[in-house]
Amino acid sequence: MHYAQLPAFPEDFLWGASTSAYQVEGAWDADGKGPSVQDVRTHFPEGTTDFKVAADHYHHVEEDVALMGEIGLKAYRFSIAWTRIVPDGDGEENAAGIAFYHRLIDAVIAQGITPIITMYHFDLPQALAERGGWANQATIDAFVRFAEILYREYGSKVRYWLTINEQNMLIMYGKMLGTTTLEGDAAQRDLYQQNHGMFLAQARAMIRCHELLPEAKIGPAPNVAYVYPASCAPEDVVAADDWNAVRNWLYTDLAARGEYNSLAWAYLVEKGWAPAIAEGDMEILAAAKPDFIAFNYYATQTVAAPSGDASDLRARGEDQQMVRGEVGVYKAVDNPNLPKNAFGWEIDPVGFRTTFRALWDRYRLPLLVTENGLGAFDELGEDGMVHDDYRIDYLQRHIEQIRLALADGVDVLGYCPWSAIDLISTHQGFSKRYGFIHVDRDEFDLKDLARSRKKSSYWYQEVIESRGARLDG
Ligand code: BG6
Repeated sequence: MHYAQLPAFPEDFLWGASTSAYQVEGAWDADGKGPSVQDVRTHFPEGTTDFKVAADHYHHVEEDVALMGEIGLKAYRFSIAWTRIVPDGDGEENAAGIAFYHRLIDAVIAQGITPIITMYHFDLPQALAERGGWANQATIDAFVRFAEILYREYGSKVRYWLTINEQNMLIMYGKMLGTTTLEGDAAQRDLYQQNHGMFLAQARAMIRCHELLPEAKIGPAPNVAYVYPASCAPEDVVAADDWNAVRNWLYTDLAARGEYNSLAWAYLVEKGWAPAIAEGDMEILAAAKPDFIAFNYYATQTVAAPSGDASDLRARGEDQQMVRGEVGVYKAVDNPNLPKNAFGWEIDPVGFRTTFRALWDRYRLPLLVTENGLGAFDELGEDGMVHDDYRIDYLQRHIEQIRLALADGVDVLGYCPWSAIDLISTHQGFSKRYGFIHVDRDEFDLKDLARSRKKSSYWYQEVIESRGARLDG
């Protein structure tokens, strides 16, 4: 549908940017921090760095937040490293770690920026992982206690809370993200039991948030990639429905409706991976009510009816954003209408609008975009600036679609692209950059870690100042 006139972005729209603790902070063992699953990872793809120093944000907090203030961000979405607060996950609290996030939050607020906190972004305390991770009731209890510490410490300063970043990726790419060390069917059974544990932990954290902080808003933050059928063949449409259910709605239905999506449940039963559900679990899940749904959007996926053999699979290595296929469930297909970025990820701004509409239709909850962005091999120009016009183009075309989604009647709270500052990709190193702020280091040469604003940050500043009216730069 075309609109003669598009609405303006709301005045209180949260124009922001995002990071996560283990990808940006560095200082991996400083001031009493315990190891997380990310710190003990030993297998890094060839030619990529580990997470020990990252962008060294831990030692550059004031400078980094001042730059975010210069850009004019209205919101900063970041995560708290559980292992800084409780180094072994469920033991003693660490005063130095707690103090660090007070400093960060205070600096953010002093710049007039609204903090949005992710409680858990891929960095489970290693000590808890060694005891079975989320399949162990002790981890669920430890997360609820961790959440209570965060509410106690930061609740008077922070209004927006996100429970778990991309729970669906933690399950579907469990090996790559450190959720499981098992293989094959055993890994899948373990992962979906951990998935159930995460749902319970999330539900209890949401319930406690509402009890302790009546003014606060809390929601989940899955990665949502709307799934298209490869054609209008009815069998392709069924395959797209199935994969939408397993990849997306399983997570959002549980968070918003407190129940397992029935197609996704049928899939789990068929595979023999359905989790054990204890008495009382479903009541806890049903009692938790999010105030909004946050989601990370990078691209859509396209699938066809499965052939039931290896041709359903796409051999492209582990990558959370690429459709990979599953024998007998759906066949992975490239979308011929979409270009790809330098890392093979499809680029689909219109699919962003479709994703908004689908989420809004299903839940009628406000939506907050907590990630979207373009990974690229940025180069510093001779003038000392990264001229990332390709990123401006990507962001511009996605913001245009938010405006259309607003016209469609969707309630959008804000947009926090990935990422505020250069950081380490989950599996493709430091050279895959996303930031508005450049950090001068290479994959292994740390150089001086100097910060400088990229061209996209000046463009984004104008977008924010004009409330989305000046997108052309
Ligand atoms: C999301 C994650 O999957 O995508 C981020 O929440 C991640 O942690 C981002 O960095 C981009 O993915 P990648 O693999 O390029 O780092």
